[in-house]
Amino acid sequence: MSPTILFLLSFVPSLALPAQAGFILLIQKDYKTLQYTTLIYLKTPLQQTQVVFDLGGDITWIDCYKNYKSSTYHLFPCNGSQFCDSLPNTGVSICTDCSDNPGIPCANNTCGLFAENPVAYQGEIGVALTDVLKLPTTNGSTQGPLSDIKNHVFSCAPSSVLPGLSKSVSGSLALGQSIWSLQTQISNSSSSYPNYFAVCLSGSRTSPGVAFLAASGPYIFLPGIDLSRSLTYTPIISNVYGGPFISSVAVGREAEYFIGVTSININNKPVPLYKQFLAINGIGIGGTKISTVYNYTSLQRSIYTGFTETFVNQSSAMNLALTKPVKPFSFCYGAKDVQVTPTGPKVPTIDLVLQSKDVYWRIYGSNSMVRVTTKNADVWCLGFLDGGVNQRQAIVIGGYQIEDNLLQFGLGSKRLGFSSSLLQKGTTCANFKFTKNPTP
Ligand SMILES: *[C@@H]1O[C@H](CO)[C@@H](O)[C@H](O)[C@H]1NC(C)=O
Ligand SMILES: *[C@@H]1O[C@H](CO)[C@@H](O)[C@H](O)[C@H]1NC(C)=O
Ligand SMILES: *[C@@H]1O[C@H](CO)[C@@H](O)[C@H](O)[C@H]1NC(C)=O
Ligand SMILES: *[C@@H]1O[C@H](CO)[C@@H](O)[C@H](O)[C@H]1NC(C)=O
Ligand SMILES: *[C@@H]1O[C@H](CO)[C@@H](O)[C@H](O)[C@H]1NC(C)=O
Ligand SMILES: *[C@@H]1O[C@H](CO)[C@@H](O)[C@H](O)[C@H]1NC(C)=O
Repeated sequence: MSPTILFLLSFVPSLALPAQAGFILLIQKDYKTLQYTTLIYLKTPLQQTQVVFDLGGDITWIDCYKNYKSSTYHLFPCNGSQFCDSLPNTGVSICTDCSDNPGIPCANNTCGLFAENPVAYQGEIGVALTDVLKLPTTNGSTQGPLSDIKNHVFSCAPSSVLPGLSKSVSGSLALGQSIWSLQTQISNSSSSYPNYFAVCLSGSRTSPGVAFLAASGPYIFLPGIDLSRSLTYTPIISNVYGGPFISSVAVGREAEYFIGVTSININNKPVPLYKQFLAINGIGIGGTKISTVYNYTSLQRSIYTGFTETFVNQSSAMNLALTKPVKPFSFCYGAKDVQVTPTGPKVPTIDLVLQSKDVYWRIYGSNSMVRVTTKNADVWCLGFLDGGVNQRQAIVIGGYQIEDNLLQFGLGSKRLGFSSSLLQKGTTCANFKFTKNPTP
């Protein structure tokens, strides 16, 4: 066992949860910023705190400089602390001097921990902290009481990291492939927690979606469908060239999840593209990542061109004619010309082909087309954007394309389980049974 684990375990009391229970997060979408947000329960006395849900984040942070009042937080002294040295390989094993900031959780000679804003690509060093963190439990079908996540380490960050995030949030919850992400810390805290989590973002404006943590299933959605039983699997790829320390649009972040798309078919017609670019090259360029901070899927220019051309050709073969586009989209069809089916507007299907030609993620109209209604237009627009020639990844699968799809991240097995559109199965991500107010 590493010194880090020993250090953390040294103040882990026994866990209160039954072995099979996991935790859930309720996930909402802020339609102003198109960001996904979630609720966590922090501090003593317990406070409901809204944070951005960041699938590619490596460490959770909370704005501590505005109003951090809690009787249970612990800082980590630098001197002689292996914990400090073990902090993420971001070069931030520093000692902070917080004499300028009386009243915040801080002390001299305390470990710092980098906090990064996933939308604005900026960040600052905060203070490493643990405090009470509770989340609602679940048996896979209903919401149970809140229960403790012991000794969860996060960064207590200056307020200057917040700009760009939804006004409702005061931090960011990290769910990336990193040793400090929420699910890794939960799974490390007890061998009874399976190292799996699943995300189901809601496409409904009124009902939230859900994430399951430390749970490999069941994931039961009304009218009683267990989605853990019908997933298709593909390897999760890491891109270690992601981004040391401060990342940027051009660099990316190393905790992000990549999958191995090998080709794209639209209505079973291959999209002409430069296949080598779909793989990740020796300096981390290329590949397909999944990101909840991209509103829509973004394609590197060379792929975007062939992709949109094929889509338009296949649409015209279905008698769909383009109309005036509405920004930020470039290809739109009059709403009255498009038939609507249980899986959304009837348009060509888009298949992201994975490790073999029989394994693909099929995208239907409900995830490929965005309805835009303005004073002058009522259109369905292709919700894939041009990432330009400088986009580092070949494909970034954005939030809109994963709504009403369940994605299960097997972190031990390095495997992504995906459902494709739940509308096909007669359910949605809004169909998990939350109770209104979780009880402590
Ligand atoms: C959690 O466990 C993994 C795998 O056992 C290990 O690599 C990692 O360092 C641990 N993380 C922490 C924070 O101890
Ligand atoms: C996402 O949408 C919001 C609201 O329209 C916009 O402000 C933001 O720039 C978009 N983000 C990206 C990465 O395109
Ligand atoms: C911590 O280490 C620094 C540098 O070695 C030293 O100056 C300081 O006095 C130490 N502080 C404590 C509290 O031991
Ligand atoms: C931290 O160090 C500064 C300068 O070294 C000192 O003025 C301040 O009192 C110290 N703060 C605490 C909380 O010990
Ligand atoms: C979960 O708990 C609820 C309420 O106690 C129960 O009705 C349901 O059958 C349980 N589901 C599973 C999958 O154990
Ligand atoms: C789209 O259709 C045009 C006209 O039929 C054809 O020239 C072009 O090669 C097609 N492009 C793709 C990518 O299918």
